[in-house]
Amino acid sequence: MPMLQNVTILGATGTIGLNTLDVIARHSDRYRVFALTANSRVDELAQLCRQYRPRYAVMLDEHAAEKLQQKLQGSETQVLSGLEALEEVAAHAEVDVVMAAIVGAAGLKPAIAAAYAGKRILLANKETLVMAGSLFMQAVAEGGATLLPIDSEHNAIFQVMPPARLAALEDGGVKRILLTASGGPFRKASAAELMAVTPAQALNHPNWVMGPKITIDSATLMNKGLEVIEAHWLFNAPAEKIEVVVHPQSVIHSMVEYIDGSVLAQMGNPDMRTPIAYGLGYPDRLEAGVSTLDLFKVGRLDFETPDTVRFPCLRLAFDALRQGGTAPAILNAANEVAVDAFLKGNIGFQDIPRLIESVLTSMSIAPVTSIAQLIEVDTLARAHAMEWRQLEAC
Ligand SMILES: NC(=O)c1ccc[n+]([C@@H]2O[C@H](COP(=O)([O-])OP(=O)(O)OC[C@H]3O[C@@H](n4cnc5c(N)ncnc54)[C@H](OP(=O)(O)O)[C@@H]3O)[C@@H](O)[C@H]2O)c1
Repeated sequence: MPMLQNVTILGATGTIGLNTLDVIARHSDRYRVFALTANSRVDELAQLCRQYRPRYAVMLDEHAAEKLQQKLQGSETQVLSGLEALEEVAAHAEVDVVMAAIVGAAGLKPAIAAAYAGKRILLANKETLVMAGSLFMQAVAEGGATLLPIDSEHNAIFQVMPPARLAALEDGGVKRILLTASGGPFRKASAAELMAVTPAQALNHPNWVMGPKITIDSATLMNKGLEVIEAHWLFNAPAEKIEVVVHPQSVIHSMVEYIDGSVLAQMGNPDMRTPIAYGLGYPDRLEAGVSTLDLFKVGRLDFETPDTVRFPCLRLAFDALRQGGTAPAILNAANEVAVDAFLKGNIGFQDIPRLIESVLTSMSIAPVTSIAQLIEVDTLARAHAMEWRQLEAC
């Protein structure tokens, strides 16, 4: 009988958070919910607390925490607020597993705290690796943490990669990583059509149900760009060994090619409960509620090269990875501002890459030295991005 493990879910009210709770509920003999966190959605977190009865519930927003406290009066859940409390429940001595599923740069500090505390980290928050890949991987090594990628692509690569992956790729005979991309809802759209894309159209992903930020990132292909940078840090892979392959069916979640010509793929229905269950159970396999892949229904698997002229975000991410230093953190911050502005109807779909490129060229790139420096760079990049928005609006 496996030991009961305490799990903290950072970003519990989001798509990944809810999928994690779904898997955990199937294995209550193995996992106990220790802490649940959210940003500001009180009713949603209150409902989850009533259902899963965690020891702690944390809201980033102080007023939201007060409201949550009122709603949970008399329950065994202790309500906390603020960034420090997020870090505390990620690093708490009684926690075994941390699901890092906050969206955006906001997830960085709690993920770093979990790494230094030596937790099993299920990393969904790709922005942590994009912003601070070198420092995060160092924290994982120093803290003795176990890092399991939850992004379906990286989880797939992890599953088909030899154990030598943490050394040089060559040691495991790996030739290339083939990162698959659905191509998003506008795979076939013309340049003119892309100019007119609305937030509602961009939020309509063909294969995956996800939070709004990653859904827009998938439509611009920035999501794939962020994932290229994520793969670089997770698998020690230089940019030239990572190839993006558009695969509209999203059945192959990624592949690894070896020097002997073998190409290993991980396949399955597009359902995030598969990588989440893999991360929770590793090295065991857990039942995840995912339906059987019906290959006869799938029928065919298509592959295309990505078009970086219509989707410049992918090129910008590759460029930032090659530039290194603070470039990926600037890319990430500018992208977060651009996506938010697009969702609010303040800029057009094709303004997203224009804004990011403008911020990247207006800031100098420096070697990464500390988390504090990266947070300063992030703040400055956001200010540049807001300026660009205002200038363009004039
Ligand atoms: N969804 C997927 O299928 C998928 C797949 C692979 C990777 N990922 C990655 O996983 C992460 C989460 O994605 P998601 O789709 O689950 O996002 P989501 O549905 O938007 O959920 C985001 C979660 O983060 C919380 N949050 C937002 N801003 C915060 C802040 N400033 N401080 C603390 N908490 C904050 C939200 O709380 P409130 O509810 O209170 O706002 C919510 O719990 C992202 O990094 C994404 O790229 C997602």
